[in-house]
Amino acid sequence: MVQTKVTVPFVKNSKGIKKIVMVTAYDYPSSVLADMAGVDIILVGDSLANVVLGYDTTIPVTVEEMLHHTKAVRRGTKNALLVADMPFLSFHISKEETIKNAGRFLKEGGAEAVKIEGGRKRIDIIKALIDSEIPVMGHLGLTPQSFHQIGGYKIKKEEELNEEDFIKEAVELQQAGIFSLVLECVPKNIAKKTTESLKIPTIGIGSGPFCDGQVLVFHDLIGFLPKKKYKFVREYAKVGRVILKALKKYKRDVEEGSFPTEEEAF
Ligand code: KIV
Repeated sequence: MVQTKVTVPFVKNSKGIKKIVMVTAYDYPSSVLADMAGVDIILVGDSLANVVLGYDTTIPVTVEEMLHHTKAVRRGTKNALLVADMPFLSFHISKEETIKNAGRFLKEGGAEAVKIEGGRKRIDIIKALIDSEIPVMGHLGLTPQSFHQIGGYKIKKEEELNEEDFIKEAVELQQAGIFSLVLECVPKNIAKKTTESLKIPTIGIGSGPFCDGQVLVFHDLIGFLPKKKYKFVREYAKVGRVILKALKKYKRDVEEGSFPTEEEAF
């Protein structure tokens, strides 16, 4: 089957027609594979900070680092829609600075949209970006950039969330012009009602099966790192184990002198 290029309007119009598949990627090889698999959206998430750069939170990652990785992902992505995450403090200072930073993701990074964490506080910024022809994906629920403000990665239970206000906030984001909305670790019943209340698609992570699409972090999905799995992650492979086995075998072969053979030389 011939793959067609995924665009912002395609994602927006997918609601109720097809489930949207999104995955993060941070470099050329992961984006080539994700694109070959036919995912709809590749997100250069600021989870780059955690899974690639080894930070505990997403706070330290910079626009320059995100851009560096977005450019690599651009080179590996043909058909998927490429979305870049706006890192902490890149959209908090002024409209001008936000537009400049987001514009760099499109102009220099080759992204086709940006993602912004947060709710109604960000509406003016979101409108300013959309007025500048920069498509925006929203992000509600657990917002890792608020780590210090909320005192850690705290997942709210259904009874701790004001359902009515949560849905109202999502509707306000939709009215501001976002083309899709990530719901991270939102209780599944609230994610369902939010999804039903919106015309734009929701893309869930840890928010249950009723969202219009799903997103997972690449490294979690393929089981890259030997670490405790989050409840909401399905590990489709244990790639880390395969890599570790290969590296150990290489070490043994070099130490024993069985690599390289004479045939493996010029
Ligand atoms: O940075 C990221 O990987 C994300 C996804 C979890 C949606 O924001």
